[in-house]
Amino acid sequence: MKTTALITAFLAGNVAAFPNMDKMTAPLAARAYEEAQQLKKRAVDPPQGAGAMPLVPPPFDAKAQRISTTGAHKWVAPGPNDERGECPGLNALANHGYLPHNGKATITQYIDAVTSVYGMGVDLATFLATFGAVVDGNLLSWSVGGKPHTGIGGSHGNYEGDSSPLKGDLYQYGSIGKLVLSQFKELYDMQADAEQPNYNLDVLRDFRGKRFQESIDKNPKYVYGPFTGILVSQAAYTFIYRFMSNKSEEYPEGILDKNTLKSFMAISGSDDNPKWTFGHERIPDNWYKRNTADAYTIPYFNTDVLYFAETQPEILSVGCNQGKVDSFNAIDADTLSNGAYTANQAASNPVCFASEFAKAELPGLTGLGSVALAPLTKTLNGLTSGLNCASIGSVNTSALTACPGFSFYGGPNAKVAKGAIQS
Ligand code: HEM
Ligand SMILES: *[C@@H]1O[C@H](CO)[C@@H](O)[C@H](O)[C@H]1NC(C)=O
Ligand SMILES: *[C@@H]1O[C@H](CO)[C@@H](O)[C@H](O)[C@H]1NC(C)=O
Repeated sequence: MKTTALITAFLAGNVAAFPNMDKMTAPLAARAYEEAQQLKKRAVDPPQGAGAMPLVPPPFDAKAQRISTTGAHKWVAPGPNDERGECPGLNALANHGYLPHNGKATITQYIDAVTSVYGMGVDLATFLATFGAVVDGNLLSWSVGGKPHTGIGGSHGNYEGDSSPLKGDLYQYGSIGKLVLSQFKELYDMQADAEQPNYNLDVLRDFRGKRFQESIDKNPKYVYGPFTGILVSQAAYTFIYRFMSNKSEEYPEGILDKNTLKSFMAISGSDDNPKWTFGHERIPDNWYKRNTADAYTIPYFNTDVLYFAETQPEILSVGCNQGKVDSFNAIDADTLSNGAYTANQAASNPVCFASEFAKAELPGLTGLGSVALAPLTKTLNGLTSGLNCASIGSVNTSALTACPGFSFYGGPNAKVAKGAIQS
């Protein structure tokens, strides 16, 4: 920030802002010029993708941002009694002892781990961890794997959803946790000819669009819900660059190269013959997380969802296939929220619509009364207050439950749907 203010002052010719101009002007002007050139270069081609946040590079502090992968945090493969699931970010934390190695943790342990190892904002971390405990755990803790009511392994329809980046759709592949190599290759090859491979938001939003269409084309029971789709599924894409990329002095926003992507996604082997090993997600050695001053918060995430929607507007439309491939019907935001959000309002603040929907859905999801849920609803409300979201009094889920693929607690495995196309 200091440097930027300096440059701005210089560019504005604000000489009075600096005392002792005579002695200082020459070196400062040279430095300001140099840095302005760098900023200009970045404005054209920032590492996160043209037009994506942030406008000004965040700070970088090597010592504070380096993540240990030795000693207590050495990578250890999960054993037969350790639970792992569909989230590579959480599996990696458990493999490195940043979460309990057995894959079961408390809300507090999740918040501590994702904020300190990846630089997630406390607001987003608290929301995600609390939601896991309420909907897929015992109100205090949950598993990164598990089955319905013990962890996110059994969260199809309430947390996990279709058209994930690398994991197959439940009714297309019979599993929510299986990495589909054709999906990996599609993403991987999007940087095949790049001079400096970097899976940034620009690449990821293209890939997101392809995966949305692929589910329509191949999964007869495709469901894209308000929370599981608009919010969680988008997070699964933006998190890849925002959290997995390696931050550096030169690229403080991060660069996500091929080897780092493979390591976090548990892929080994050559480009021609990649191999996936369940649960083997790994933080690479000598890897640097986000700066604390640059935490990835809920409002920050909201801007990324809007960035995706610029080129892939379909990601804002809730809907489902009708039991056949290519039969996607959109469901109106107005109907789902009983009039609280028009389609336009939902589209201009997607994270509001999705998170308010999730909160209003909680009694139906958990079977708990609104009185029992009140303390948690209050916590979740406080977290999205930065966005000034209009609340949803009650949700109309009957439009969703009419979807042939809809279930509240599905997975980790299920039958492949008739007519599903695997590739
Ligand atoms: C407490 C925090 C977190 C929770 C509760 C959580 C939960 C989940 C859930 C439920 C899914 C399935 C979503 C889907 O249907 O695609 C998922 C997927 C995913 N998560 Fe997380 N996650 C958390 C943190 C993270 C972090 C920190 C990262 C990145 C380092 C991450 C990266 C991903 C990715 C890339 C996927 C998609 C997997 C694939 O399809 O290949 N998550 N997570
Ligand atoms: C991260 O970037 C730094 C600086 O360029 C580099 O030294 C380090 O090897 C990188 N880490 C990974 C895992 O690529
Ligand atoms: C709820 O949605 C269904 C399906 O779209 C619709 O038929 C019904 O009228 C809605 N209910 C209310 C109370 O609006």
